[in-house]
Amino acid sequence: MSLDFKQIAIKAAKQAGEIHKKYFEGDTQTKEKSSSFDLITIADTEAEKKVVELIKNNFPEHNILAEEGRYEKTDSNYCWVIDPLDGTNNFSFGIPMFCVSIALVKDNQLILGVVYDVMRDELFLAERGKGAYLNNKKIKVSDADSFDKSLLITGFYYDRGKDMIGNLEAIKVFFQKRVVGIRRLGAAALDLCYIASGRATGFWEFKLSPWDFAAGKLLVEEAGGKITRKDGQEVKIESSYIVASNGKIHQRIIDVISNL
Ligand code: IPD
Ligand code: CA
Ligand code: CA
Repeated sequence: MSLDFKQIAIKAAKQAGEIHKKYFEGDTQTKEKSSSFDLITIADTEAEKKVVELIKNNFPEHNILAEEGRYEKTDSNYCWVIDPLDGTNNFSFGIPMFCVSIALVKDNQLILGVVYDVMRDELFLAERGKGAYLNNKKIKVSDADSFDKSLLITGFYYDRGKDMIGNLEAIKVFFQKRVVGIRRLGAAALDLCYIASGRATGFWEFKLSPWDFAAGKLLVEEAGGKITRKDGQEVKIESSYIVASNGKIHQRIIDVISNL
Protein backbone atom coordinates (compact mmCIF):
# COMPACT_ATOMS: atom_id res chain seq x y z
CA MET A 1 0.00 0.00 0.00
CA SER A 2 1.14 3.50 -0.69
CA LEU A 3 2.58 4.99 2.47
CA ASP A 4 0.66 8.14 1.72
CA PHE A 5 -2.68 6.59 2.68
CA LYS A 6 -1.44 5.75 6.13
CA GLN A 7 0.32 9.06 6.65
CA ILE A 8 -2.67 11.09 5.54
CA ALA A 9 -5.07 9.04 7.67
CA ILE A 10 -2.89 9.55 10.75
CA LYS A 11 -2.48 13.25 10.04
CA ALA A 12 -6.24 13.65 9.57
CA ALA A 13 -6.98 11.72 12.76
CA LYS A 14 -4.56 13.82 14.80
CA GLN A 15 -5.96 17.07 13.43
CA ALA A 16 -9.51 15.93 14.17
CA GLY A 17 -8.31 15.06 17.70
CA GLU A 18 -7.02 18.60 18.18
CA ILE A 19 -10.43 19.93 17.15
CA HIS A 20 -12.11 17.58 19.66
CA LYS A 21 -9.82 18.79 22.42
CA LYS A 22 -10.31 22.47 21.67
CA TYR A 23 -14.11 22.27 21.90
CA PHE A 24 -14.25 19.68 24.68
CA GLU A 25 -12.44 22.13 26.90
CA GLY A 26 -14.66 25.01 25.75
CA ASP A 27 -18.17 25.39 24.35
CA THR A 28 -19.33 22.21 22.57
CA GLN A 29 -22.26 24.06 20.92
CA THR A 30 -24.46 20.98 21.21
CA LYS A 31 -27.67 20.79 19.16
CA GLU A 32 -30.28 18.12 18.54
CA LYS A 33 -29.87 16.18 15.28
CA SER A 34 -32.76 13.75 14.73
CA SER A 35 -34.06 13.74 18.33
CA SER A 36 -33.28 14.95 21.85
CA PHE A 37 -30.92 12.00 22.34
CA ASP A 38 -29.21 12.18 18.93
CA LEU A 39 -26.88 15.15 19.29
CA ILE A 40 -24.43 17.06 17.13
CA THR A 41 -21.72 19.48 18.24
CA ILE A 42 -19.44 21.97 16.55
CA ALA A 43 -16.65 19.38 16.84
CA ASP A 44 -18.56 16.82 14.69
CA THR A 45 -18.86 19.27 11.81
CA GLU A 46 -15.45 20.90 12.10
CA ALA A 47 -13.60 17.60 12.47
CA GLU A 48 -15.39 16.18 9.42
CA LYS A 49 -14.54 19.29 7.41
CA LYS A 50 -10.87 18.99 8.32
CA VAL A 51 -10.60 15.23 7.62
CA VAL A 52 -12.45 15.48 4.30
CA GLU A 53 -10.37 18.50 3.24
CA LEU A 54 -7.10 16.64 3.88
CA ILE A 55 -8.27 13.56 2.01
CA LYS A 56 -9.70 15.54 -0.90
CA ASN A 57 -6.50 17.60 -1.19
CA ASN A 58 -4.40 14.46 -1.43
CA PHE A 59 -6.75 12.06 -3.22
CA PRO A 60 -9.29 14.23 -5.04
CA GLU A 61 -10.73 11.33 -7.02
CA HIS A 62 -11.49 9.10 -4.00
CA ASN A 63 -15.02 8.55 -2.69
CA ILE A 64 -16.04 9.68 0.78
CA LEU A 65 -18.67 8.18 3.05
CA ALA A 66 -18.89 10.25 6.22
CA GLU A 67 -21.48 10.67 8.93
CA GLU A 68 -22.31 14.35 8.71
CA GLY A 69 -22.08 15.30 5.02
CA ARG A 70 -22.97 13.94 1.59
CA TYR A 71 -20.19 13.83 -1.03
CA GLU A 72 -20.44 13.45 -4.75
CA LYS A 73 -19.81 9.91 -5.99
CA THR A 74 -16.75 9.36 -8.19
CA ASP A 75 -15.55 6.43 -10.37
CA SER A 76 -12.72 5.62 -7.97
CA ASN A 77 -12.47 2.14 -6.40
CA TYR A 78 -11.28 3.77 -3.16
CA CYS A 79 -13.68 4.97 -0.49
CA TRP A 80 -12.85 6.65 2.84
CA VAL A 81 -15.31 5.87 5.61
CA ILE A 82 -15.25 8.53 8.32
CA ASP A 83 -16.80 9.15 11.71
CA PRO A 84 -15.47 12.59 12.60
CA LEU A 85 -16.47 12.26 16.25
CA ASP A 86 -17.61 8.92 17.61
CA GLY A 87 -19.06 9.30 21.10
CA THR A 88 -20.84 12.62 20.62
CA ASN A 89 -23.13 12.14 23.61
CA ASN A 90 -20.13 11.53 25.89
CA PHE A 91 -18.45 14.56 24.38
CA SER A 92 -21.35 16.90 24.93
CA PHE A 93 -21.84 15.73 28.55
CA GLY A 94 -18.15 16.22 29.37
CA ILE A 95 -17.18 12.53 29.48
CA PRO A 96 -13.68 12.13 27.98
CA MET A 97 -14.45 8.99 25.96
CA PHE A 98 -14.67 9.68 22.24
CA CYS A 99 -12.56 9.38 19.09
CA VAL A 100 -12.31 9.93 15.37
CA SER A 101 -12.49 6.89 13.09
CA ILE A 102 -11.10 6.77 9.55
CA ALA A 103 -11.07 3.71 7.29
CA LEU A 104 -10.05 3.16 3.70
CA VAL A 105 -11.85 0.65 1.52
CA LYS A 106 -10.46 -0.52 -1.84
CA ASP A 107 -12.66 -2.63 -4.13
CA ASN A 108 -15.01 -3.30 -1.21
CA GLN A 109 -12.20 -4.51 1.04
CA LEU A 110 -10.97 -2.64 4.10
CA ILE A 111 -7.27 -1.91 3.74
CA LEU A 112 -6.60 0.67 6.46
CA GLY A 113 -8.16 1.69 9.76
CA VAL A 114 -7.18 4.49 12.15
CA VAL A 115 -8.96 5.40 15.39
CA TYR A 116 -7.64 8.23 17.54
CA ASP A 117 -8.58 9.04 21.14
CA VAL A 118 -7.05 12.42 21.77
CA MET A 119 -7.80 12.50 25.51
CA ARG A 120 -5.54 9.49 26.10
CA ASP A 121 -3.35 10.17 23.08
CA GLU A 122 -4.05 6.63 21.87
CA LEU A 123 -3.76 5.94 18.16
CA PHE A 124 -5.05 2.57 17.00
CA LEU A 125 -3.93 1.56 13.53
CA ALA A 126 -4.37 -1.47 11.31
CA GLU A 127 -3.34 -2.22 7.76
CA ARG A 128 -4.60 -5.34 6.03
CA GLY A 129 -2.09 -8.16 6.46
CA LYS A 130 0.23 -6.10 8.67
CA GLY A 131 -1.28 -6.43 12.14
CA ALA A 132 -2.89 -4.00 14.57
CA TYR A 133 -1.07 -1.40 16.64
CA LEU A 134 -1.68 0.95 19.54
CA ASN A 135 0.80 3.82 19.46
CA ASN A 136 3.15 1.70 17.31
CA LYS A 137 3.01 -1.28 19.67
CA LYS A 138 1.51 -4.48 18.30
CA ILE A 139 -1.79 -5.46 19.95
CA LYS A 140 -3.76 -8.68 20.10
CA VAL A 141 -7.11 -9.84 21.40
CA SER A 142 -7.55 -11.41 24.85
CA ASP A 143 -7.29 -15.19 25.24
CA ALA A 144 -10.28 -15.64 27.55
CA ASP A 145 -12.15 -18.76 26.49
CA SER A 146 -15.24 -18.58 28.70
CA PHE A 147 -17.83 -16.06 29.87
CA ASP A 148 -16.55 -16.13 33.42
CA LYS A 149 -13.24 -14.69 32.21
CA SER A 150 -14.87 -12.16 29.88
CA LEU A 151 -15.63 -8.48 30.04
CA LEU A 152 -18.22 -7.54 27.42
CA ILE A 153 -19.08 -4.20 25.87
CA THR A 154 -22.32 -3.18 24.27
CA GLY A 155 -23.92 -0.05 22.90
CA PHE A 156 -27.40 1.33 22.42
CA TYR A 157 -28.44 2.84 19.16
CA TYR A 158 -30.67 5.89 19.44
CA ASP A 159 -33.67 3.64 18.82
CA ARG A 160 -35.85 3.10 21.90
CA GLY A 161 -38.02 0.34 20.45
CA LYS A 162 -37.77 -3.38 19.76
CA ASP A 163 -33.97 -3.46 19.41
CA MET A 164 -33.45 -1.80 22.75
CA ILE A 165 -35.71 -4.34 24.45
CA GLY A 166 -33.71 -7.16 22.81
CA ASN A 167 -30.48 -5.58 23.99
CA LEU A 168 -31.69 -5.24 27.59
CA GLU A 169 -32.69 -8.90 27.52
CA ALA A 170 -29.22 -9.83 26.19
CA ILE A 171 -27.60 -7.98 29.10
CA LYS A 172 -29.68 -9.98 31.57
CA VAL A 173 -28.78 -13.28 29.92
CA PHE A 174 -25.04 -12.48 29.81
CA PHE A 175 -25.07 -11.63 33.52
CA GLN A 176 -26.92 -14.88 34.26
CA LYS A 177 -24.16 -16.65 32.33
CA ARG A 178 -21.71 -15.08 34.77
CA VAL A 179 -19.67 -12.71 32.62
CA VAL A 180 -17.22 -10.64 34.68
CA GLY A 181 -18.97 -7.42 33.64
CA ILE A 182 -20.66 -5.48 30.87
CA ARG A 183 -19.67 -1.95 29.87
CA ARG A 184 -21.36 0.71 27.77
CA LEU A 185 -18.49 3.05 26.91
CA GLY A 186 -20.34 5.20 24.37
CA ALA A 187 -18.08 5.15 21.30
CA ALA A 188 -18.42 2.07 19.10
CA ALA A 189 -15.15 2.62 17.20
CA LEU A 190 -13.25 2.64 20.49
CA ASP A 191 -15.26 -0.35 21.75
CA LEU A 192 -13.87 -2.33 18.81
CA CYS A 193 -10.34 -1.10 19.47
CA TYR A 194 -10.71 -2.27 23.06
CA ILE A 195 -11.56 -5.74 21.75
CA ALA A 196 -8.53 -5.55 19.44
CA SER A 197 -6.23 -4.59 22.30
CA GLY A 198 -7.55 -7.26 24.69
CA ARG A 199 -9.04 -4.76 27.16
CA ALA A 200 -12.39 -6.46 26.63
CA THR A 201 -13.37 -9.85 25.24
CA GLY A 202 -16.61 -9.36 23.35
CA PHE A 203 -18.83 -6.63 21.90
CA TRP A 204 -22.28 -6.54 20.39
CA GLU A 205 -24.48 -3.75 19.16
CA PHE A 206 -27.65 -3.64 17.10
CA LYS A 207 -27.87 -1.01 14.34
CA LEU A 208 -24.43 0.45 13.80
CA SER A 209 -23.57 2.58 10.78
CA PRO A 210 -20.56 1.87 8.50
CA TRP A 211 -18.53 4.79 9.94
CA ASP A 212 -18.99 3.37 13.47
CA PHE A 213 -17.37 0.02 12.70
CA ALA A 214 -15.28 0.25 9.49
CA ALA A 215 -11.87 1.08 11.04
CA GLY A 216 -12.59 -0.99 14.18
CA LYS A 217 -13.41 -4.05 12.08
CA LEU A 218 -9.95 -4.10 10.54
CA LEU A 219 -8.39 -3.50 13.97
CA VAL A 220 -10.23 -6.51 15.42
CA GLU A 221 -9.34 -8.78 12.49
CA GLU A 222 -5.69 -7.75 12.37
CA ALA A 223 -5.43 -8.27 16.15
CA GLY A 224 -6.55 -11.89 15.72
CA GLY A 225 -10.22 -11.42 16.61
CA LYS A 226 -13.46 -12.04 14.81
CA ILE A 227 -16.24 -9.73 13.70
CA THR A 228 -19.49 -10.88 12.12
CA ARG A 229 -23.14 -10.02 11.84
CA LYS A 230 -25.34 -11.31 14.63
CA ASP A 231 -26.17 -14.39 12.51
CA GLY A 232 -22.46 -15.20 12.19
CA GLN A 233 -22.26 -14.10 8.55
CA GLU A 234 -19.64 -11.79 7.11
CA VAL A 235 -19.97 -8.08 7.94
CA LYS A 236 -20.61 -5.96 4.85
CA ILE A 237 -20.54 -2.20 4.77
CA GLU A 238 -24.34 -2.14 4.93
CA SER A 239 -24.50 -4.57 7.90
CA SER A 240 -25.64 -3.13 11.17
CA TYR A 241 -26.01 -5.88 13.81
CA ILE A 242 -22.41 -6.42 14.83
CA VAL A 243 -20.68 -8.97 17.06
CA ALA A 244 -16.94 -8.71 17.68
CA SER A 245 -14.77 -10.81 19.96
CA ASN A 246 -11.46 -12.49 20.54
CA GLY A 247 -12.86 -15.39 18.48
CA LYS A 248 -12.93 -17.86 21.35
CA ILE A 249 -16.28 -16.72 22.81
CA HIS A 250 -17.76 -15.57 19.51
CA GLN A 251 -20.24 -18.38 18.97
CA ARG A 252 -21.37 -18.15 22.59
CA ILE A 253 -22.24 -14.47 22.14
CA ILE A 254 -24.11 -15.25 18.93
CA ASP A 255 -26.03 -18.06 20.66
CA VAL A 256 -27.35 -15.52 23.18
CA ILE A 257 -28.22 -12.63 20.88
CA SER A 258 -29.45 -14.48 17.80
CA ASN A 259 -32.50 -15.62 19.78
CA LEU A 260 -33.55 -12.08 20.70
C1 IPD B 1 -22.64 6.40 18.41
C2 IPD B 1 -21.64 5.74 19.33
C3 IPD B 1 -22.35 4.87 20.33
C4 IPD B 1 -23.23 3.85 19.67
C5 IPD B 1 -24.22 4.51 18.72
C6 IPD B 1 -23.45 5.35 17.69
P1 IPD B 1 -21.96 8.80 17.45
O1 IPD B 1 -21.96 7.17 17.45
O2 IPD B 1 -20.74 4.95 18.61
O3 IPD B 1 -21.43 4.14 21.13
O4 IPD B 1 -23.94 3.16 20.66
O5 IPD B 1 -24.91 3.48 18.05
O6 IPD B 1 -24.36 5.96 16.83
O7 IPD B 1 -23.35 9.23 17.17
O8 IPD B 1 -21.48 9.25 18.78
O9 IPD B 1 -21.02 9.08 16.33
CA1 CA C 1 -20.49 6.93 15.57
CA1 CA D 1 -20.25 10.58 14.93
